[in-house]
Amino acid sequence: MAFQPCGWLLWKVTLLFSLFVVGEGKYKGFRKLSQGEDISRRALPEEQWFTQKLDHFNGADSREWKQRYFVNEAFYKPGGPVFLMIGGEGPASPAWMQYGTWLTYAEKVGALCLMLEHRFYGKSHPTVDLSTDNLRFLSSRQALADLAHFRVVMSETRGLTNRKWVAFGGSYPGSLAAWFRLKYPHLVHASVATSAPVYATVNFPEYLEVVWRSLASENAECPLLVKKASDTLMERLKDPKTYDNITKDFNLCSKLQIQTEMDSAYFLETLAGNFMDVVQYNEDNRGFEGVMGTNITIKGLCGLMGDTSLGEPYNRYAAVSRLMMETFSLKCLDASFNNYVRDMTNTSWDGPAAGGGRQWVYQTCTEFGFYQSTDSPNQPFTGFPLVYHVKQCADFYNVSSGQLAEAVAQTNEYYAGYDIRSTRIVFPNGAIDPWHALGITKDITPDLPAVFIKGTAHCANMYPARSEDLPQLVLARDHIYLLLQQWLKQ
Ligand SMILES: *[C@@H]1O[C@H](CO)[C@@H](O)[C@H](O)[C@H]1NC(C)=O
Ligand SMILES: *[C@@H]1O[C@H](CO)[C@@H](O)[C@H](O)[C@H]1NC(C)=O
Ligand SMILES: *[C@@H]1O[C@H](CO)[C@@H](O)[C@H](O)[C@H]1NC(C)=O
Ligand SMILES: *[C@@H]1O[C@H](CO)[C@@H](O)[C@H](O)[C@H]1NC(C)=O
Repeated sequence: MAFQPCGWLLWKVTLLFSLFVVGEGKYKGFRKLSQGEDISRRALPEEQWFTQKLDHFNGADSREWKQRYFVNEAFYKPGGPVFLMIGGEGPASPAWMQYGTWLTYAEKVGALCLMLEHRFYGKSHPTVDLSTDNLRFLSSRQALADLAHFRVVMSETRGLTNRKWVAFGGSYPGSLAAWFRLKYPHLVHASVATSAPVYATVNFPEYLEVVWRSLASENAECPLLVKKASDTLMERLKDPKTYDNITKDFNLCSKLQIQTEMDSAYFLETLAGNFMDVVQYNEDNRGFEGVMGTNITIKGLCGLMGDTSLGEPYNRYAAVSRLMMETFSLKCLDASFNNYVRDMTNTSWDGPAAGGGRQWVYQTCTEFGFYQSTDSPNQPFTGFPLVYHVKQCADFYNVSSGQLAEAVAQTNEYYAGYDIRSTRIVFPNGAIDPWHALGITKDITPDLPAVFIKGTAHCANMYPARSEDLPQLVLARDHIYLLLQQWLKQ
């Protein structure tokens, strides 16, 4: 899980909720960073508010709301460019106004730094609640129009009209950074679209195929052991007599109940999520955001999976789950699909899924799909096929599978999928990160270059540099800077 702007773009949002909700309630706020790194050393920027239209595409609708944004003027030199960090599917974390590679770029070129929170996330509430009817106003198109209006008005009020604006974002906001340049080329001079999925697809089984390869890159046996464990578990789920043991082994909050395929899929996906999350963020330098569990790595999980003293692979799989729960201070694991449905259909801004889960899954059902199913044979998990994901669109938002398929096709029609024609957009991706499968990993043209980084995970190039960074990551950050430098002269 993460705050923004490198989004969760998830494997799954549920565990995140439980993390926040079962723990000390809601967001735990910033944890102290590693020793020697003190966040108070840099003052948190104040939140500011921008008046935005509710519906950019209906001139007859004049309703307005307040969108949150942050400013960092510390590096700005008159005449310098404007860097705009795009918020995504969670609260915009002001920590990004103090840390992150974009600020080292800003310092070098004298940029003014702004970050705009995405509508419907964090404190940017366009409507009184998250009813499905109100979520109509949540879309990437509305979000891009928010960015455009923000860009125009801020330019006027701050005298920045002739400045060059550069958009940044990671994960879904990375896609927005690319699309902002694509759709509003007169407003955005260049974009850094990190770990950006640019191709929408209902079924995304490739995600778990990359998880297999990323585990195997640590240890060839590791994904085989994971597969063995999840197959065993799947087998045991067919026999209710095993449920007491499973409840105990995985420290479930209440006795396992499997009444439908949705129940078993939810449980199996939750456990797979342990691996998906760790692979996606492997060794990313995320501590400054207040993220927990950054010391759990592929190496650590594969170490546990290979530990024969723990018993058969099934027992090791359970040990991984208990390690994750310990790390996130979870007292027990809520494996109940009914509770998940209850949380996801709560439409209150105080609801358990309002941190972003209800909103983001809505966007997947109405724009992107991206469902990380077990439909490929070349991946380690079992039991959460595409239908399980698609049915949630109906259960949560009354979106049918036909509507979903059509919406996803329209998204690619609108944003061009992989076939982007533009200039001055760079697409960094990490080879460990499963999202690279929907990203640009080869140059489209010299003016639309890819930066494919071997051995790094989701958004690695955006996080603050540290001494143990892989040399190719250091080079990638430098390369992106050189591109920016060059583009700012054009
Ligand atoms: C439950 O676990 C115990 C101890 O590991 C084992 O002896 C027993 O056979 C298991 N029960 C079932 C139904 O699998
Ligand atoms: C991760 O760090 C926490 C606290 O810093 C520590 O308690 C835990 O044992 C560590 N876990 C691993 C797997 O190293
Ligand atoms: C939604 O969540 C809030 C906060 O947890 C809770 O007070 C409220 O009762 C929930 N609403 C429903 C309909 O469950
Ligand atoms: C669900 O959608 C269908 C068709 O799109 C509509 O006819 C129906 O009334 C909707 N149901 C609810 C509960 O909104």
